[in-house]
Amino acid sequence: MDRILIRGGKPLNGTIHISGAKNAALPLMAASLLTDETLSLANLPHLADISTMANLLSELGVTIGMNGEAGGGGHFGRVFELQADGPIETTAPYDLVRKMRASVLVLGPLLARFGRARVSLPGGCAIGTRPVDLHLKALAQMGAEIELDEGYVEARAPNGLKGAHIVFPMVTVGGTENLLMAAALADGEAVLANAAREPEVADLAHCLVAMGAQIEGIGSDTLRIRGASALHGASYSVVPDRIETGTYAVAAAVTGGELLLKGSRLDLISSVVDVLRGTGVEVSEADGGIRVRQGDEGLKGIDVMTEPFPGFPTDMQAQMMVLMSVAGGASMITETIFENRFMHVPELARMGAQVNVHGSSAIVRGVAGLKGAQVMATDLRASVSLVLAGLAASGETEISRVYHLDRGYERIEDKLAACGADIERVKA
Ligand code: EPZ
Repeated sequence: MDRILIRGGKPLNGTIHISGAKNAALPLMAASLLTDETLSLANLPHLADISTMANLLSELGVTIGMNGEAGGGGHFGRVFELQADGPIETTAPYDLVRKMRASVLVLGPLLARFGRARVSLPGGCAIGTRPVDLHLKALAQMGAEIELDEGYVEARAPNGLKGAHIVFPMVTVGGTENLLMAAALADGEAVLANAAREPEVADLAHCLVAMGAQIEGIGSDTLRIRGASALHGASYSVVPDRIETGTYAVAAAVTGGELLLKGSRLDLISSVVDVLRGTGVEVSEADGGIRVRQGDEGLKGIDVMTEPFPGFPTDMQAQMMVLMSVAGGASMITETIFENRFMHVPELARMGAQVNVHGSSAIVRGVAGLKGAQVMATDLRASVSLVLAGLAASGETEISRVYHLDRGYERIEDKLAACGADIERVKA
C-alpha cells in the first residue's frame, strides 16, 4: 500500500486550485438515472469515489463519456457525459455499495423512473453506524413498498411515487438528496421539511431544475418539488469543494504560510471562516478565490460544535483539531453528527497532541509543536488531518492507508508540494 512521507515545518505559500466537490458530484452523477437524455457534468474531481460511482452507474447500464481534462489555468476538472437511455439494471450490488456508502443515492432515482430498485444496505463504517432508515421511511411515505431481503433494500412503486409531506426527524444530507431525486419524477407535489441545506444539496437541486424539475426553496430547510412525468438532459458544473477549501485553509494557518485558494467562495465556508478568524487566522476574498494566512499574533484556542449546514461541518472537525493542537490555550470540539468520529485522536497523540475525549467532546490543549511519527487513519478526513499535522510538525511523518486520501483529495501531494511542502508518495 502507498504511503505519504512529509518532512514538516515548512510554511506553505502559493496558490491551490480548489476542485469540484466530491459530495456534490456523487449525487449529481446518480441524477443521470432520471432521464434518457444526456447529463453533462463539468468540474468533476479526479477521485477514487468518482470512479466508484462511475463503475456502479456503468454496471447499471449508464453510458459514460469522459471528456478528459477541461478548463485551464492549472485547473483540471473533468467533464462526464452520462446517458441512461438503454436497458437499465435496477440492482446496486453489495460489493460496490460496501466500498462507498454514497452508492445508496441510486435508490431514489431508480425507484422514481423504473418503479423498482434493489440496493444493498451499506452497513456501518469507521465514523458511525450510519443507517439509511430515514431515506426508506420517506420513500415509503411517497408510496414505495419497501422490504429488506438478504441485506438488500427491495423497493417497489409499480404505479409510481406520489407527492407527500415529509418531515425529516433529523437533518440528513443523503436522505434529502435521495428524496429530491425521487420527488422530481413523482406524481404531485412533495414537501421536504427539515431538509439538509448543505451547498451540495442545493447543487443537486439546481441541476434538477436545469433538467426540467420544479423546485422551490433551494438552499432553505423546506424544499417544495412539483413532480414531472419526465426530465430532460442538461449541462451542469459542480460547485467548488468547501471541505477541500477548509482543509487547505488550515494548512496555511498551521504552517504559518499564506495560500490563495483559487476558485473557492467564502459563502460556502462561512462557519469555518468564523472559527478560523476566532483563532487569529486572516481570511479574505481575493483574486478569484480566498486568501488565508496566520495572523501576526499567532493561533489561539477556540470552542467548536459540529452542526448541519450552515453550522460548522463535521467533515472539518479532524482538521480543526490539528489547528487547536498547535494553538495557544485550550479548545473544545463537540461532535454532534457522527457518534464515532474521533479516530484521529490516538494518531495525533502519537505526534504529541494533547487531546482528551469525553463522550462526544474533545478537549485539546495546545502544545508548542508537534513531532513527526508513523501514523495511519481509518477515514478520509482523519487521514487528511494527519497530513496537516505532518506539515506542521518537526521531523518526518509517514502516513499509511493513503487510499483514504485518494477518495476525497485530488492530487493532494502535487497541490501541497507546489506550495513548498516537502511531501512525497512512496509507492508500495
Ligand atoms: C454526507 O453523508 C456526506 N457524504 C458526509 O461526508 C458528511 O459527513 C455527512 O453528509 C454530514 O455532513 C456525502 O455527501 C457523500 P447524513 P450522509 O445522512 O449523507 C444519521 C466525507 O468525509 N442518519 O447527513 O451519509 C447518520 O447516521 C463524508 O466526505 C440516520 O440516522 O450523512 C448521521 O449520524 C463522510 N438515518 C447523521 O444522520 C438516516 O437514514 C447525518 O447523516 C440517515 C442519516
